[in-house]
Amino acid sequence: MKKLLDLISEEMMQAFEAAGYDRELGKVTISNRPDLCEYQCNGAMAGAKTYHKAPIMIASDVAGKCEGSAVFSSVEAVNPGFLNLKLKGEFLGNYLQEMEREEKFGLPKQEKPLKIVIDYGGPNVAKPLHVGHLRSAVIGESIKRIARYNGHEVIGDIHLGDWGLQMGLIITELRERKPELPYFDDDFTGEYPKEAPFTISELEEIYPTASARSKEDPAYKEKAMDATFKLQNGVRGYRALWDHIIAVSVSDLKKNYEKLNVEFDLWKGESDVHDLIPDMVEYMKKEGYAHESEGALVVDVKEESDTKEIPPCMILKSDGASLYNTTDLATIRERMEKIDPDRIIYVVDKRQELYFTQVFRCARKTKLVKPDTGLTFVGFGTMNGKDGKPFKTRQGGVMRLEDLLNDINEQMYNKMISNHEIPEEARKEAKEVAAMVALAAIKYGDLSNQAGKDYIFDVERFTSFEGDTGPYILYTIVRIKSILNKYAALGKKIPDTGIRKPEGEAEKELMMSLSGFISMMQAAWEEMAPHKVCAYIYDLANAFNHFYHETKILQEEDEEKQAGYIALLKLTKEILETCIDVLGFAAPERM
Ligand code: ARG
Repeated sequence: MKKLLDLISEEMMQAFEAAGYDRELGKVTISNRPDLCEYQCNGAMAGAKTYHKAPIMIASDVAGKCEGSAVFSSVEAVNPGFLNLKLKGEFLGNYLQEMEREEKFGLPKQEKPLKIVIDYGGPNVAKPLHVGHLRSAVIGESIKRIARYNGHEVIGDIHLGDWGLQMGLIITELRERKPELPYFDDDFTGEYPKEAPFTISELEEIYPTASARSKEDPAYKEKAMDATFKLQNGVRGYRALWDHIIAVSVSDLKKNYEKLNVEFDLWKGESDVHDLIPDMVEYMKKEGYAHESEGALVVDVKEESDTKEIPPCMILKSDGASLYNTTDLATIRERMEKIDPDRIIYVVDKRQELYFTQVFRCARKTKLVKPDTGLTFVGFGTMNGKDGKPFKTRQGGVMRLEDLLNDINEQMYNKMISNHEIPEEARKEAKEVAAMVALAAIKYGDLSNQAGKDYIFDVERFTSFEGDTGPYILYTIVRIKSILNKYAALGKKIPDTGIRKPEGEAEKELMMSLSGFISMMQAAWEEMAPHKVCAYIYDLANAFNHFYHETKILQEEDEEKQAGYIALLKLTKEILETCIDVLGFAAPERM
């Protein structure tokens, strides 16, 4: 189905042509003076030079050709030469009827769906999941869903940080604490225990302790580096211990991501490509891409047009150890071999932008990817507290994601029960609803900002039921559901189609907002911009609430008119629900 704006432009182009002007001048945009008109065309101004005519004369000629138009109810030529446009109600009504009937409200199918890998989440095993990882998960999940809704084949990969020094640190600390464990006995040949020698909370305490110690004690750090080396080279006891660390961590991560409504198709990590590194290094050397520099192996990636220095991409350190980017490059190679995607998208903190510039250039230069494989970096800003500094707990430490979620769930629940007494038997449902609303508050609070910008995590504002917030959107959806339920309870059937032409201004505004769905959804994908979905549903929710306050829906006596309203409500609800689904949250039945 065509975008509404394209249909309108088409009509205007015909008028330009009929008046003897270049049809390309007929492009229409949304009005920037909504008090005067709904759409506008500035083509007469642009054509003045070519036709040596005053713009107002061109505009008047064109307006004259629009008489009897099926699209416009009014076309006004105003000084100095604008065309102010208003739509015919029937035209708008028909357009929405087509949206009602079409799959995905008429969003065009992809002729050639892309195969896309999206690399997001990126938590580090055994380190507590902190709020910094929240943004990657929330934004990545939404971009994945937006891409899927637009018809692409998308594979989400968590890309665990499971292979670096942090593993050696944990092993070293465990060895200090429990040297008697069989994992540390070189002569042990039996089977290692099935049960991990630690719980997740111990693990989360071990890492920071070990990390702090290694900063003060060089000998300890030496041991941790040695343990990392042994692990990476397959020392049996260390591998077995590592398996435990992964298992315990991953099951905890899964629990956390489930609460966030974030789902990965692949749970791969840096460790998965370890064995592929030697071959890749060999290849880079053999093809002459990599050369030695001060003992290390590097690939130059600077380009002539660079305005700032882009350092070479280091593949191996002088001691032969691989690095973060070695695993990223090997992962690209593996993805190309196993999945062969058209595009790989990385959703990572924007402070890693230079790093990804190096990796992408290196991957292209060394032909790990095809010339037309897209490599896209979506960098996000920092989540700050109200003091403008990176978000911390009240005690000043980094906030664990789990604590943050529990905290907000509780605040939401308290807010909801503060309005009315909730009987014992309804508390369970109330808790579930509170959790749904809390998730909407957090995700919408994040996603409504342009991803690249820093933003202030303001719980009070995010959890408010008024304004540009997740709870306000849910509240609007629940309000529509309630009207639809009441209508059904009157014994009337909710029609699948049947939107009529608008009667009043508020209804027309709601309908125009709905008609923008397709172009919004396409733009959200092309620009990988969930904030566009948020801005859209905020406008839509406002338009709906305005209409709702102006209109007697359930009391309407004219049955046909009422059925038309109900059809309009149903479409509004479906579009809002589709949008929050791509944002990664859902609405309860009531709240
Ligand atoms: N684990 C990394 C971190 O915490 C993020 C991983 C991003 N993805 C990637 N392919 N490098 O910084």
